[in-house]
Amino acid sequence: MAEPNELTTNAFFIEVSGAGLPEVDGLFIPSTAPPAESESGTVSSLGYWNGRMAWDRADGKSARSPSLSYSNSYKSWRICRLDGHLAYDATCEDEMPPTDTEWHVYKKGVAPAPKVVLHHYDPRLPCPDPNVVFVIGGPGSGKGTMCELAESQLGWTHLSTGDLLRAEREAGGPAAATIEEFITAGKLVPNDIVVTLLRNAMETVTRTTGRNNFLLDGFPRSVSNLKAWNEIFSQDSELPKMLYFECPYEVLEKRIMGRAKYTGRSDDNVESVKLRFDTFKAETLPTVELFKSKDRCVEVDTSQDRQAVYDVVASNLAEYTNKDLAARPLTERAEMLLGLRPYPRQKKDA
Ligand code: AP5
Repeated sequence: MAEPNELTTNAFFIEVSGAGLPEVDGLFIPSTAPPAESESGTVSSLGYWNGRMAWDRADGKSARSPSLSYSNSYKSWRICRLDGHLAYDATCEDEMPPTDTEWHVYKKGVAPAPKVVLHHYDPRLPCPDPNVVFVIGGPGSGKGTMCELAESQLGWTHLSTGDLLRAEREAGGPAAATIEEFITAGKLVPNDIVVTLLRNAMETVTRTTGRNNFLLDGFPRSVSNLKAWNEIFSQDSELPKMLYFECPYEVLEKRIMGRAKYTGRSDDNVESVKLRFDTFKAETLPTVELFKSKDRCVEVDTSQDRQAVYDVVASNLAEYTNKDLAARPLTERAEMLLGLRPYPRQKKDA
């Protein structure tokens, strides 16, 4: 275990919710408990307790500081009530409080155990601005493949507007009915819905993972998409770079028809591909021209093989890519996406 003076600053925030105990639910901030010797004899430093990060209640009302900490004796993470009694614990040796397992309800706790979310930034402050690259191209031009590669291999976060819209529709939120109406009518979904979904997804990823590099696949699909973006992200901030995936129609059609037998997508047929390509020319190409005129567009010839396309994409992202991630051997997922390894066979339904 690291000596106290080697410990990195505790800059994480923790949100506890759903406990049903107002004195447990709430925000926890890095502990300001003075250095002390713990029950197990470990000397703690600011933000740390028993050699692990520790947190106080943000409202400062807890009788115990830190009020969310690790016990070496019991090998468990613990959350206490205002009166200092323990309410929840999680027996494990994880370096950080577990966010994906159910906590145990301790003597003074109330079921159900709360949900614990780790934040990389103070949730009371605005989220740091995202670092965004737009990825645009005709249907089947390889946007999804290359964005997934950049996510798996280079640590970028891939957000596809098509996927976000479909997920929101399935989740049945307040915009679900409108999304369904527009997608069924084959129209572009209203801009405010698309941009709000993008902004919320980026904010959640940044706050909970600390990742700030985003590839927005399928956005902006129209000049009005871009206008809505500017309204939310302010005209003053620099226009993100656009990677424009250029590919002849014959190649797109061949690729989508090759993919159709696996995806089962209702729009993966020759007729729909033609219609999607027409929409792309009418609605999206003017956006590409706009980015070209502002010198913010990089054209990528995606009729080349996957490795050649990936090399161009990776070099255009290099400035903001973590060097260690870029230098490591290809992940299994990346090898599959590059066509160097077969996808695992799907089990057939019995
Ligand atoms: P969306 O889901 O974004 O569909 P799309 O743009 O038509 O793109 P695809 O997913 O079909 O293709 P892709 O470019 O990702 O290619 P892929 O990597 O799979 O949008 C769906 C709908 O949602 C829209 O029609 C609209 O209604 C709505 N919507 C979306 N965004 C919106 C927005 N901003 N505003 C409003 N509405 C919106 O590759 C294709 C195949 O080729 C794969 O099999 C792949 O393995 C292969 N391949 C890829 N690269 C290569 C290569 N270099 N060599 C050989 N094969 C390759």
